[in-house]
Amino acid sequence: MLLEVPTPQEGRLRRLAAAFESRFEGRPAGVAVAPGRVNLIGEHLDYNEGHVLPVAIDRSLMVAFAPRPDGRVRLYSLDFDQESAFDLAGFERDSAAPWSDYVRGVAWALREAGHRLSGLDGAIEGDVPIGSGLSSSAALEVAAIGAFAAASGLRLDRRRMALLGQRAENSFVGVACGIMDQMAATLARAGHALLIDCRTLECEDVPVPLEAAGGDGRAGLRLVVADSGVRRALVDSQYNVRRQECRQAAELLAKAIPDRPVASLRDVSPEDLARYGDGLPPDLLRRARHVVEEERRVLGSVEALRGGNMQAFGEMLGASHRSLRDDFEVSCSELDLLVDLARALPGVLGARLTGAGFGGCTVNLVRADALEAFRERVVARYCSETGRAGRMYVCRTADGLRLRKFGRP
Ligand code: GLA
Repeated sequence: MLLEVPTPQEGRLRRLAAAFESRFEGRPAGVAVAPGRVNLIGEHLDYNEGHVLPVAIDRSLMVAFAPRPDGRVRLYSLDFDQESAFDLAGFERDSAAPWSDYVRGVAWALREAGHRLSGLDGAIEGDVPIGSGLSSSAALEVAAIGAFAAASGLRLDRRRMALLGQRAENSFVGVACGIMDQMAATLARAGHALLIDCRTLECEDVPVPLEAAGGDGRAGLRLVVADSGVRRALVDSQYNVRRQECRQAAELLAKAIPDRPVASLRDVSPEDLARYGDGLPPDLLRRARHVVEEERRVLGSVEALRGGNMQAFGEMLGASHRSLRDDFEVSCSELDLLVDLARALPGVLGARLTGAGFGGCTVNLVRADALEAFRERVVARYCSETGRAGRMYVCRTADGLRLRKFGRP
């Protein structure tokens, strides 16, 4: 099937409660729900301390939980049909159940930060496709932090939750991600993109004319995610190489720019690059150029969205893709094909790769009346040309982390 539609929330909650009750004694006390995300623009900027503009989507990870009086954590994943358990007294990864490492990691990060945790039973279910760049891992981290906080009676600020999720992923799971995904999963609001200043972590909600979860479906533009079906082999090491290259470029430019400190590429302007860029090795110059120009594109996009100029916004998406392809070099032939097919379709205002790159998904702004054509002339054609299992998800914008008592949707 090419077009994937999310299962209604109510069905998921019922299935989750039934699974909890059959695995553990009693009923869950509550459920923590954290969304996946799609970054509209501002790619590879979070670890350069720039601005990013993600939306949370109507696909999520759910953790139904009940506190336990002892220090034991028992988990059951519906998606993997697997259990994993640990004690809060010691933390180890579980190579037989790697999905549980995100939960173990946040318990570890919460304890490291000095919080007293209660044990819990937790049943986990998700409909964020795994490994396609829609941040199922950040969603699980954030939902698990929500569950631990509620079970242990902790009051945690949402920014703090995002930082703890990132800490778990960086230091426990061992993936050197930036802060964007966890911030989107905790702080985004339906109907809005979240403009994050990744240096200060200040955020602003920017209204987007896209259908929101629970909306009436009449809005004219849809957010379409096209999954290339290419899984990101080696992405983590390439991702780390890009981080390293950005750091090197910033260090070299810091030495060249005489009049002010350059802590990261965030501090470099297009004028600086024109003046001092020649001193960089050519590949570092290209990496720096992507970051410096992408930062301007994010700010320009916010202006375009605020002014209702979707045409201009769509053009920035296209420019972002070209920059990621040619300067940052994180695209691949499949993502380029998806973007080219989309751009050739009337009714598509903009398209680009989203997330880390090297595979995963593209994000597309598509007029509602062009959805069917998108399915046939972009996704189906992509599948037949590449032999890959491409998919499309029509996403609605959603809220960040929600906690609710069980039984009350
Ligand atoms: C991954 C990381 C994010 C961000 C993006 C690229 O999704 O987890 O922190 O760096 O890549 O924008």
